[in-house]
Amino acid sequence: MADTMQGLKRTHYCGTVTPEMIGREVVVCGWAQKTRDMGTLVFIDLRDRTGIVQLAFDDKTDPAVLTKAQRVRAEYVLMARGVLRQRESVNHEIPTGEVEVYVTELRVLAESNTPPFAISDDSKGVKEELRLKYRYLDLRRPEMQSAIAMRHRIVKVARDYYDTNGFLEIETPVLIKSTPEGARDYLVPSRVQQGKFYALPQSPQLYKQILMCSGFDRYMQIARCFRDEDLRADRQPEFTQIDVEMSFIDEEDIMAMNEGFMKRVFKEVLGKELETPFRRIKYRDAMDNYGIDKPDTRFDLRLHDLSEILKNTGFAVFSGAIAGGGSVRGINAKGAAEKLSRKEIDKLTDFVKTYRAKGLAYTRWTHEGRSSSFEKFLTEEEIAGIHKALDAEEGDLLLIVADAKNEVVYDALGQLRNHLAQKLGLIEPGTFDLLWVTEFPLFEYSEEEGRYMAKHHPFTCPMLEDLDMIESDPGHCRARAYDMVMNGCEVGGGSIRINTMELQERMLVALGFTPESAEERFGFLLEAFRYGAPPHGGMAFGLDRLVMLLLGKESIKEVIAFPKVQNASELMSGCPAEVEDKSLAELAIKVDLPQE
Ligand code: AMO
Ligand code: AMP
Repeated sequence: MADTMQGLKRTHYCGTVTPEMIGREVVVCGWAQKTRDMGTLVFIDLRDRTGIVQLAFDDKTDPAVLTKAQRVRAEYVLMARGVLRQRESVNHEIPTGEVEVYVTELRVLAESNTPPFAISDDSKGVKEELRLKYRYLDLRRPEMQSAIAMRHRIVKVARDYYDTNGFLEIETPVLIKSTPEGARDYLVPSRVQQGKFYALPQSPQLYKQILMCSGFDRYMQIARCFRDEDLRADRQPEFTQIDVEMSFIDEEDIMAMNEGFMKRVFKEVLGKELETPFRRIKYRDAMDNYGIDKPDTRFDLRLHDLSEILKNTGFAVFSGAIAGGGSVRGINAKGAAEKLSRKEIDKLTDFVKTYRAKGLAYTRWTHEGRSSSFEKFLTEEEIAGIHKALDAEEGDLLLIVADAKNEVVYDALGQLRNHLAQKLGLIEPGTFDLLWVTEFPLFEYSEEEGRYMAKHHPFTCPMLEDLDMIESDPGHCRARAYDMVMNGCEVGGGSIRINTMELQERMLVALGFTPESAEERFGFLLEAFRYGAPPHGGMAFGLDRLVMLLLGKESIKEVIAFPKVQNASELMSGCPAEVEDKSLAELAIKVDLPQE
């Protein structure tokens, strides 16, 4: 039978005892981190949320207590009463290392099986699957405890900050009609109305706009969002947004308000001053310079357009790409020629191929001279032109991609740029780089659908200068949309919304909706707009991403208590899972799995 807590109350958390308290009696609780049994001398490291304190027992300890202490194993749950005393050998590794609790009473509140891995911050040798299956143990590690606590702090700062600025937190439903964020919905079947489904929100987008129509003026919510899309290091099927919306504002107001939030988070969570306003980069310039709409500008490695120099070249790989409507662009990895071997350049070629590039042309200019995959096909003038455009000199590695599709050139080089920065160690650890990307395209052509789609969502307002182009030149129409980018990661994004029916209808027509199909999908929003919608706009931060970046983690799984893995399962509870036939019958659902 385990002991109970009866008659004894915790007086202190393990990590909070200090030398000033020496001589006082304390009662501490927690898990046995480590035990050392040296016969009549026993030490137990006791761990709770705040840290570790050493429990000490010796030959003067009541024999019954000593025997009990000798039976303690890792992760046993203990409660100990004793006097705080000076430690003989100070442990400089832990904050409480000068003191120990000389125990007079020990209670074993629960025993523990031998854990499948040690509860320590060195989790490198432990497979992620194992960590997630035994997440309750993994979460005991101080590193995880501190990540989760940090997440809490950030949420608290968000609530305080927006509250101070007049925002109301309003909950929106989780069982809803499909939202228009463009990923696949998670569906929930209705029992009461068989054959009908709810969708889980990809974001509270329509509801927050409706709340503006209702006159709430400033809304915020820590909102759970669901998107059935492939997982990545910064993407989970279930994630959290800090979602905000404001009325009677323009983009300047929204950007300033949300920069203010970041400033506050940096100050309160990291103790760092953040400079505002953030730099702004137009989408077009982001693409031309960095090949990506979320540029990491902690390092340079810019893209350069070589098309003008190469449009008439005899080398068909280059001229063909340009003639086909695409381009030839390159980057100069300054000083990388000696660092990257031929073999490693081949690996870079494989890397860009995963982004659909057909090849990677290179010139490696070492002290022995230039070796190049393409210069032999070019004239001296063309070579000189490339060298000038890329500012090439000895020591440099020039990397060039040509493709008839510009997006392939951008994507391949944009990703290569980030990849090289990692490989060459171009990023100074601990630096933060924040910027806005503005003037996004309003539409994006979908090859798959054979039509223009909303790049953000169908309620995003076009830039006023581009209004006339909605029908005539949708490809060049820009949106009043903005993304906040931190260290090359999109931490947030939003837009000014359309607030008149006339413009909204034009948008929907341009997106290929018929009046009926628009009515069917978001009729309630359109109807609300008929009753006076204020000018409004907003944005949403990806909370998980924000926490990940602030803590310098590689994956958002490290800042989510119970995350999902690649195949969207949650390994501890084991979902998704089959359900009883009875439950399916109630929903009038038949499972019809394809034959393997
Ligand atoms: P958006 O789709 O850009 O905008 O999402 C806002 C932010 O949420 C984060 N995010 C994700 N984080 C983790 N896993 C995911 N699968 C995931 N998807 C998105 C990103 C992103 O910047 N309703 C609009 C906002 C608005 O217009 O106000 C929206 O949801 O950090
Ligand atoms: P090839 O004539 O196919 O042997 O190509 C000569 C060089 O051009 C090789 O180094 C190829 O990797 C490179 N190359 C081929 N296709 C492309 C491309 N689309 N973009 C950049 N370089 C390419």
